[in-house]
Amino acid sequence: MSKPIEGFSKLSKSEKIDWIVNTYFADKETAKTILKQYWNENSALQQLHDEFVENTITNYYLPFGVAPNFLINGKLYTIPMAIEESSVVAAASKAAKFWLDRGGFKAEVISTTKIGQVHFMYHGIHENLKRFFEEIKPRLFADTEFITYNMQKRGGGILDIQLMDKTDKLSGYYQLHATFETQNAMGANFINSCLEQFAKTFKSEAQRFDGFTEDEKNLQIVMSILSNYVPDCLVRAEVNCKIEDLNDDDITDVGEFAQKFIQAIEIAEIEPYRAVTHNKGIMNGIDAVVLATGNDFRAVEAGVHAYAAKNGQYTSLTHAEIKDGIFRFWMEIPLALGTVGGLTSLHPLVKLALEMLNNPTAKELMQIVAVAGLAQNFAAVKSLTTTGIQEGHMKMHLMNMLNQLNATNEEKIHMVDYFKTHVVTHHAVEEALLAFRIKNVDTQNHLSDSGI
Ligand code: MEV
Repeated sequence: MSKPIEGFSKLSKSEKIDWIVNTYFADKETAKTILKQYWNENSALQQLHDEFVENTITNYYLPFGVAPNFLINGKLYTIPMAIEESSVVAAASKAAKFWLDRGGFKAEVISTTKIGQVHFMYHGIHENLKRFFEEIKPRLFADTEFITYNMQKRGGGILDIQLMDKTDKLSGYYQLHATFETQNAMGANFINSCLEQFAKTFKSEAQRFDGFTEDEKNLQIVMSILSNYVPDCLVRAEVNCKIEDLNDDDITDVGEFAQKFIQAIEIAEIEPYRAVTHNKGIMNGIDAVVLATGNDFRAVEAGVHAYAAKNGQYTSLTHAEIKDGIFRFWMEIPLALGTVGGLTSLHPLVKLALEMLNNPTAKELMQIVAVAGLAQNFAAVKSLTTTGIQEGHMKMHLMNMLNQLNATNEEKIHMVDYFKTHVVTHHAVEEALLAFRIKNVDTQNHLSDSGI
């Protein structure tokens, strides 16, 4: 077992790498070469990445793909997606193309309010706390003006602060529950800075408040933090068309397809085992765009899944219906996103992704991301209820298998062609590649025997 190391973060990058390779790797030189081969040759760009987090030793690449032909509210987009899963970008592009010919996607932002809380403990008389809060509330706004000044100029700021009594759930537990509008910023730093100032003001003013007993003056601040549960930062995305317009290569009977599609959604609405996988497919699209545009996909994931369970049971985020001969498929999800601040002006690829999307506002980005999620779910459920997903998925995965088997470019071209009409399995790929290699060697031997 290796020994703990003191002062690792103070070592230089190359000292850190030396310690890592000497401690964990049998083939130290190979490990070092792999780490260094992902360094960017532009040293300023590499330094930028080094400084995003602590203890950076190399970069971790993800493919940056694009899905064109997304018609959203009448405007065409090419959507950037950062993701490693083989079939996601292809599925998004296919769904975009399908709906391009059927009126495209409609999306609207329903609300943009974000939430933060100061959690504190108070074991005194509730009425005294209430009086204190009412007296101190204007001070909470006034003391944060130095933080909110710029945000207010952009039309955002603190919307309200409420005192919440949670003592029925946990003895002595109260909150300052604040709502915020953060315009084009995701707003995490802004919200957390406001909350920490609320906590300071609240604590110091409590010690001066005449209406408190000595014990009551010592209320205890536990923590101040934004919430990633944002049910009032909501966006809706929808597609619809006449049932007969659903017709395409994979759909022979449109009526049966529409009915099976709706059944698949109903199953995800009532069956949590299915709902989790169903929603995972939605997040394939959402996370990929969130990541490409420099937003916090962990925050989005946490908030979206909490929203999926808001009524006490985890359920499908998408819904579908047939009414008056119209097939309608939609989703409402909470998305706290930013197009300014954070990585957006810092990471060259994030800047590029945002420019590709015409430098959207946060509201526009919410719509684009929701559409990517809806499209992904449409593609998955369409495949699941028609051809099954393995056919498309394994075709996309073929390239990974060929790379694992060290196939040359020529071999890849032949294999992709061969598997257009054959079922892809790991074994089948191994066999076909071996057969191709043997045939190739035979042909070459034959050519050299005949002096060519
Ligand atoms: C795979 O990444 C996502 C799917 O499983 C989603 C689904 O089942 O709906 C295909």
